[in-house]
Amino acid sequence: MKKIAIASLAVLGLSSVLMAGVPASCNGCHGPDGSKNTMVQGGEGIPNTMTKADLKEALHGYKAGTLNKFGKGAMMVSFSKPLTDAQIDEIAEAWGK
Ligand code: HEC
Repeated sequence: MKKIAIASLAVLGLSSVLMAGVPASCNGCHGPDGSKNTMVQGGEGIPNTMTKADLKEALHGYKAGTLNKFGKGAMMVSFSKPLTDAQIDEIAEAWGK
């Protein structure tokens, strides 16, 4: 896993400030550590409060366009669509409990 994370960091050219394997595109709404959701009120929709398994399931759901937990699922579609299965695993590792 570590090797994969390092390899993808090199490929994506991400800075070391970011969590391993998490695309910079997530930053604006969730922060580099997945600790917020600027688009959902009431402290909900925060990725790093989820288990790794739930995180993976959610990202696959948004990617498929079938998940809409807080009425704002459409916002996540364009960000989850380009993710590969390996990237989804890495995000779950970096942010999930
Ligand atoms: C434009 C703002 C925005 C960006 C950028 C964004 N998200 Fe989200 N994210 C949201 C919103 C809004 C929701 C809640 C959607 C809903 O109603 O289901 C959400 C939900 C989630 C959830 C589920 C949270 C929960 O409690 O179920 C995960 C996981 C997640 N985002 C991960 C990511 C990842 C990984 C990226 C980058 C690839 C990303 N998001 C980029 C706005 C964003």
